[in-house]
Amino acid sequence: MSGPNTDYDPVEVTALQAEQVTAMRDEALAAFAAAGDLAELKQARLDHAGDRSPLALANREIGALPPQARKEAGQRVGQARGAVSKALADRTAVLEAEAEERMLVEETVDVTLPVVRRPRGARHPLTLMSEYIADLFVAMGWEVAEGPVLEAEWLNFDALNLGPDHPARTMQDTFWTEPADDHLVLRTHTSPVQARTMLERTPPIYVICPGRVFRTDPFDATHSPMFHQVEGLVVDEGITMAHLKGSLDHFAARMFGEGITTRFRPSYFPFTEPSAEVDMVCFVCRGEVGAVDECRTCKGEGWIEWGGCGVVNPRVLAACGIDADRYRGFAFGMGIDRSFMFRSGAGDMRALFEGDVRFASAFGTDW
Ligand code: PHE
Repeated sequence: MSGPNTDYDPVEVTALQAEQVTAMRDEALAAFAAAGDLAELKQARLDHAGDRSPLALANREIGALPPQARKEAGQRVGQARGAVSKALADRTAVLEAEAEERMLVEETVDVTLPVVRRPRGARHPLTLMSEYIADLFVAMGWEVAEGPVLEAEWLNFDALNLGPDHPARTMQDTFWTEPADDHLVLRTHTSPVQARTMLERTPPIYVICPGRVFRTDPFDATHSPMFHQVEGLVVDEGITMAHLKGSLDHFAARMFGEGITTRFRPSYFPFTEPSAEVDMVCFVCRGEVGAVDECRTCKGEGWIEWGGCGVVNPRVLAACGIDADRYRGFAFGMGIDRSFMFRSGAGDMRALFEGDVRFASAFGTDW
């Protein structure tokens, strides 16, 4: 075994000479400065500051120096390594900031660019209006009742006090079906749902029934052989016309705006007694002097015809198994299509049934 290498000359360890160390440091600094992004900097770090970098290797050599030479070489290499790691940290910070900025620019979304628009459908405005009406009654504790559109003749007419020979039976132009022996009709109004409800339920009854009805009308700007009605029926103890009037005033206000009330005009329906036509205050001119004469919505009337109503005829209560001495009821029926047309200003009823999505889109997103 040889002894300590006391006459070791540090000058001979070229890796530790001042110029060499300075050159290693400067190469490292130059490589960091040249790195254009974080990936390149990572490579420069491995090359110049990693475990196998020239300065790391030089650092290892220090231990091999004689003690008297170690201090100076150690300082020299240590300073160089310090400068390198500081430069590395500085460059990392700069490149990270740059990368972040680039990301912000590259990932910017130009919200003004044109996009491919996929046309969206819309629910039919009459569906929305029917649901709105049902909701406003449900909010008062009423229930929604339904019935079939292909209806028994007896429920559409007889149960409603329209016997076979009743003159009013011809008031509604009926679609009869074959074979005639089946006695089925396309319901001419939603009133058979009154009869169905009274047969099925026991009072108190508070129901609302929106639905499709059919009459042999032409298909033109103001008629359609298929249209929509909403029927209301209440059967309870102590019911009067005042309850009917209050319910309709509330209904009108919720449909057409606060302050839109109703008035009754005497009329005749076999299933109600007394019966009335319901008019509502014109929601455009409100019947106000100065506006009403010019009003095209109500044609100068100040009132708009809205539907029919009345106190349920005791004969109908009896036909449907309800104790007519104990209970009384009221009923009303309106055209939903007509209500929609007033409200929207749509001039031609056919638009409601032609299925053009542009019509539904215009009115169907919010009724
Ligand atoms: N069913 C009647 C019609 O279609 C309207 C109505 C309903 C009248 C309820 C009175 C009570 O003309």
